[in-house]
Amino acid sequence: MKAILNGIGVAFDDTGSGGIPLVLLHPFPFDRTLWAAQVSGLADAARIIAPDLRGFGDTELGAGPITLDTYAGDLAALLDARGIARAVVAGLSMGGYTAFAFYRKYPERVRALILADTRPQPDSPEAKQGRDENIALVRSRGAGALADKMLPKMLTAGTVAARGAVTQATRVAMARQPVTGIIAALEAMRDRPDSTPTLAQISVPTLVIAGAEDTVTPLQDAELMRGEIRGARLVAIAGAAHLSNFEQPDAFNRAVREFLAGLP
Ligand code: MLT
Repeated sequence: MKAILNGIGVAFDDTGSGGIPLVLLHPFPFDRTLWAAQVSGLADAARIIAPDLRGFGDTELGAGPITLDTYAGDLAALLDARGIARAVVAGLSMGGYTAFAFYRKYPERVRALILADTRPQPDSPEAKQGRDENIALVRSRGAGALADKMLPKMLTAGTVAARGAVTQATRVAMARQPVTGIIAALEAMRDRPDSTPTLAQISVPTLVIAGAEDTVTPLQDAELMRGEIRGARLVAIAGAAHLSNFEQPDAFNRAVREFLAGLP
C-alpha cells in the first residue's frame, strides 16, 4: 500500500487479523520485505504495520537531510492515516534507533516496545568516521559495494556457509536500496543522539531480542538495555547474528508471540 504522508509517498504493509497493532521498523540498509517471515508468521497474533522508512524500498526520500526524528514523525503520520492511536513498536537495529526516537516524541502512542539487535549508545568517533567512509563508498561504487562489505556481519558464518539462498537474499535486499536513501540514513545514524538516558524513562513493557552471535550490536548492548529498562525481558536467539528475525524467524516469532500474549 502507499500513502502520501508528510509530503512524500510512503510504502507500507498493513496486514494481519490479530487485534493488537504491531509496527515493524526495518534495519539499515533494508526495507520492509525483511519482515516477510514476521508478516506471515504473526498474522494471527497482530495487525502488522510495516513501513519502508524514508528513502528505502518504495518510500520516497523527500528533500533535505533527515534525522531519526524524521522517521519517527513519518511513523506518527502513518499511524494517524491508519487510525491507530497506540501500537507495539518493534525495531531492529536502525529500526530500534527509530523506536527510541518515536518513544521520546510520542510516548503515549507506544503500548509496548520490542528492541531487537540494537543499541542505545550513540556512534563513537571511530563509528562516525566509519559512516563517512561508507558514504564515500556508496557515492563512488554504489549500494552493491556496501552490501558486499556489510554482508559478513549480517548473518552467522554457519548460515553464510550452508544457506546460500538466505545469504544471497540478504545481499540482494541491501544492494537494491537507493544510494540517496542510504546516504541520508548514514548521516542520520552518525548524528543520532544518545538514547541511554531514555532507557530509565521507558515505562511500557519491553522485550529485548538479540542474536547470540551479533557482532554489530553485541549481546552486551542487549544486556545493558535489559538492565536499565524497568521490567524488560531479554531473549537471546541461538544461531543468529545481526538479522535475528531473518536468520531464525521461528525463534524470533515465538519470542514476539509470547510477549504479545503476555501484554496486559
Ligand atoms: C542496522 O542494521 O540498522 C545498522 O547496521 C545499524 C548501524 O549501522 O548502526
